[in-house]
Amino acid sequence: SESDSAAGDLSGRRVLISAGGTREALDPVRFLGNRSSGKQGVALAEAAASRGARVTLVAANLEVDPPAGVEVIRVSSARELNAAMQAAAGDTDVLIMAAAVADYRPVTVAEGKIKKEHTGDRLTLELVKNPDILAALAAARRPGQIVIGFAAETEADTDALLALGRAKVSRKGCDFLVINRVGWNEGFASDDNTVIVLDAHGAIVNEASGAKLSVANRILDVVV
Ligand code: CTP
Ligand code: CA
Repeated sequence: SESDSAAGDLSGRRVLISAGGTREALDPVRFLGNRSSGKQGVALAEAAASRGARVTLVAANLEVDPPAGVEVIRVSSARELNAAMQAAAGDTDVLIMAAAVADYRPVTVAEGKIKKEHTGDRLTLELVKNPDILAALAAARRPGQIVIGFAAETEADTDALLALGRAKVSRKGCDFLVINRVGWNEGFASDDNTVIVLDAHGAIVNEASGAKLSVANRILDVVV
């Protein structure tokens, strides 16, 4: 079928994939999060495993089950995801950052539940930037290692979307960037996706639309 690809063309390759969305704790019962379901990252793990790769999935709060036959490391916050990726990166041939990482986390995490009796009618949260995991992985990659990022953008105009992607791939220093358009009803929870894959120079190397498993295989075609 369309979603199947050359069986075994990633045979013996080690592939590390982050998926899902991070959660940044505010207090013991609350977090700042995002709408990523983890479906595209899980589809990548499934596709890579079925093409023969040894896959490690760093799973941040997935809304779907991870595929069988894949090593799963569960994390929640951006800093936990960073630590898991750093620990596993050295051993891998392909690193894919499909997770939606919180750009900021609360400066302080309250020990007890924040009570509105104490915070009043308005509440200001102070946030601090999280580490850029993808940029660090790209900067530290060894020869032959392939680092792939994702860019979820809400830009409707395709030229503007591409311009954002080109700026992002050079800022991150990764080998490929998978751009997908997201919105209130597009991208995250859906079983389908539409992506454009850019190389390090910003050139389009693949485009795909359809089921997330099929899109995953078109992304892996580029890796192969
Ligand atoms: N990413 C990361 N660490 C972060 C933020 C993002 O590794 N702290 C990764 C994401 O997993 C994704 C890529 O960087 O693969 C692009 O994420 P995106 O949110 O689109 O880019 P940002 O650089 O955070 O820029 P912005 O959100 O402002 O568009
Ligand atoms: Ca971001």
